[in-house]
Amino acid sequence: GIVVIDYGSQYNQLITRRIRDFGIYSELMPNTITAADIKEINPKGIILSGGPNSVYDEGAFTIDQDIYNLGIPILGICYGMQLMAYHLGGEVESADNREYGKADIEVTDDSAVLFKGLPKKQYVWMSHGDLVRKAPEGFKVVATSKNAPISSIANDDKKMYGVQFHTEVRNTEYGLDILKRFAFDVCGAKANWSMDDFIDQQIEKIRQTVGDKKVLLGLSGGVDSSVVGVLLHKAIGTQLTSIFVDHGLLRKGEADQVMDSLKGKFGLNIIKVDAQKRFLDKLEGVTDPEKKRKIIGNEFIQVFNDEAQKLDGIDFLAQGTLYTDVIESGTSTAQTIKSHHNVGGLPEDMNFQLIEPLRTLFKDETRELGEKLGMPHDLVWRQPFPGPGLGIRVIGAITEDKLQIVRDSDLILREEIKNAGLEKDIWQYFTVLPGIRSVGVMGDGRTYDYTVGIRAVTSIDGMTADFAKIPWDVLQKISVRIVNEVDHVNRIVYDITSKPPSTIEWE
Ligand code: XMP
Repeated sequence: GIVVIDYGSQYNQLITRRIRDFGIYSELMPNTITAADIKEINPKGIILSGGPNSVYDEGAFTIDQDIYNLGIPILGICYGMQLMAYHLGGEVESADNREYGKADIEVTDDSAVLFKGLPKKQYVWMSHGDLVRKAPEGFKVVATSKNAPISSIANDDKKMYGVQFHTEVRNTEYGLDILKRFAFDVCGAKANWSMDDFIDQQIEKIRQTVGDKKVLLGLSGGVDSSVVGVLLHKAIGTQLTSIFVDHGLLRKGEADQVMDSLKGKFGLNIIKVDAQKRFLDKLEGVTDPEKKRKIIGNEFIQVFNDEAQKLDGIDFLAQGTLYTDVIESGTSTAQTIKSHHNVGGLPEDMNFQLIEPLRTLFKDETRELGEKLGMPHDLVWRQPFPGPGLGIRVIGAITEDKLQIVRDSDLILREEIKNAGLEKDIWQYFTVLPGIRSVGVMGDGRTYDYTVGIRAVTSIDGMTADFAKIPWDVLQKISVRIVNEVDHVNRIVYDITSKPPSTIEWE
């Protein structure tokens, strides 16, 4: 496979993702990895990711320089290229202005292997402060742009390459092609990895880690933990006990649906805990989103601890953490945007070891995995649902009355999206209760009631999203139904922001 070394770019796992999409196994590794480790892994190639540092920063992420001498092909992207150039005797310069956005490059060398067969002029996505000012000896400059005269460097003898722009994002016109040329032509990797291999690898890994010990799984009701449940069940069968915490923050009918399919169809051993009151009590009067998330996350684990005490000899706790959860909660290298339920809520004194088999996957990969595991299509293609559930869709303090409004309005939204045949086109859709009230008129009377917000987005992996362009007549039907059928609602608004700058959830 191909190893990607992590220098902290928000997009770095996208690189591994793209490579896996080519059918080549790829994994992100910390930048503290040693040449000896790499030798042990014996990858076909190494990619040094982008990152926010300057090579001149104090404590800038670096590399075990012996890695350059392993004879394994290397591609440096952005910071990765600067680091390599700096170490190998080139010059890196701090640019006065950050360059951020689309830029045109021109390929200036006909023999440039990364650009073989691609148009000479193409647009790319630049996002950098520093620049390589002079290529190291043995390297030639193979592409230039106005602001980055050294946009790409190559040393065919040593099989070392660098690009100043981000090949992994969609805004680079031929980004995938460039990555492919590195992976296949330079590294000679073969497309022989698939999701089936992932399943085998994970099952093997889970069995090795777990041995004959017991695992407890927190089923949240969402797709991710359900997929983890089925995967673990396949790997270790009855060594797995699942606890399904009904925290009262689930959508309407969801608890039954989960129990029916996972316990009923797949035969998982599930203990259902009714903890609605416990959660509501803890959340009473709490308005800060991060506090709410932490409380829900903590409480979830506490319920676990309590249940686990009743069970004998549980050593491991499994969770359905995805890559997007990890990155947005802040890894050692990226900034915290929201502390995600699965990551942020863990108390220090937790007495389980963690197993998170989906930690390197994106949402759509998780769904593919679910289908490969034989899970029903409609279960796997359920919308993503956040760990804190409706707790972050009632904005501000949570009450049972407000939850009721969100549950009922959300069900209507789901029904009408389904009736309109739009389920597949919209990645995630739900209602929120911002908690503001406004004046309306119903019959002859004045009302002073709540506003419900509709959020619907298209997305590929949840990292970025666009608001869905739902036809007016569908929106109208939804609006009329919610106002008529849900008590204490007299106004509906539609959220027309993308991510970024918004996030998908409101909290
Ligand atoms: P945001 O709101 O950050 O959401 O744009 C991106 C995706 O992640 C889901 N989400 C969560 N999932 N635990 C989860 O498992 C969480 O705490 C959490 N918060 C948000 C969100 O529903 C969307 O699909």
